[in-house]
Amino acid sequence: MQETTVAILGCGSMGTAILSGMLHHGINPTQVKVTAKRTESAEALAKKHKVTAYATEYQPNANNLAVEGAQLVLLAVKPAYITEVLDQVSSVLREDALIVSVAAGVTTETIEQHVPKGVAVVRAMPNTPALIGKGVTGISAGSRVSQEQLALVDELFSAVGKTLVIPEEQIDALSTISGSGPAYVFFFIEEFIKAAMALGFSQEEAYLMVSETFLGAAALLVKTQADPADLRRQVTSPNGTTMKAVAVMEEANLDELFIKATSAALARAKEIAQEMK
Ligand SMILES: NC(=O)c1ccc[n+]([C@@H]2O[C@H](COP(=O)([O-])OP(=O)(O)OC[C@H]3O[C@@H](n4cnc5c(N)ncnc54)[C@H](OP(=O)(O)O)[C@@H]3O)[C@@H](O)[C@H]2O)c1
Repeated sequence: MQETTVAILGCGSMGTAILSGMLHHGINPTQVKVTAKRTESAEALAKKHKVTAYATEYQPNANNLAVEGAQLVLLAVKPAYITEVLDQVSSVLREDALIVSVAAGVTTETIEQHVPKGVAVVRAMPNTPALIGKGVTGISAGSRVSQEQLALVDELFSAVGKTLVIPEEQIDALSTISGSGPAYVFFFIEEFIKAAMALGFSQEEAYLMVSETFLGAAALLVKTQADPADLRRQVTSPNGTTMKAVAVMEEANLDELFIKATSAALARAKEIAQEMK
């Protein structure tokens, strides 16, 4: 990856997270060209990361300027702009370019239809903790990708967290777990904070107790690699206080709730995929 020339089209929150990972991983800023829509965004990127940055509002051919000569092209614009941007840059793509798209719901097949025949396409689904190097990214190869190219993309996303290489049929399912997952966790945290405040703690105290409990429990799980059910039992003495709380949660059929929630997310992903065709 160290020698690869890179273009990041649509360097917003996710693009910048990946850019930071790349630079941290030893890629030289002189190898990277990025684009944004607004001039102020491009200026901020150039100033902060020392990369070449172009703005489409100032230079309508900004994406072409970034893509010319790039070996790896990361597509990080919103899903609705993907095909438009591809049609713009298609004529200046290198024949051996590797395209990596993080756009939710846009298939490798759709992208392949908008680029020259030799160009390889990989789809990746990171999540927001990638912004602090703690992401989980699902990676799926399109129909023209070599093992070396897949390994390169794996290395790229390993710079912002953990990776899983999976068949593209599973990427929407992965998205309902790790992609949307941070929102579920924040939802529990919100409710847990409310419960702590109802017990008389200040918002500050509740925030600290709850956030550190989530962080600590997750760190313990990862560090021990134990079965979460075993770790739960360790906190749950027979007929103790935790047992009473867990019993109430069990009565609420949490298992069914998780299946129902992730199924709803998956059904919506399928609808969006239809709309993107
Ligand atoms: N955020 C996530 O957690 C997450 C997770 C998985 C996948 N994704 C995917 O990542 C992609 C970007 O999401 P995001 O959250 O990073 O959005 P974002 O912060 O809004 O970034 C989009 C970027 O695209 C730029 N842009 C708009 N039109 C453009 C054009 N025609 N050419 C070049 N750049 C253009 C914007 O410029 P300005 O900054 O000037 O507006 C902005 O920098 C989406 O496809 C999304 O599905 C995001």
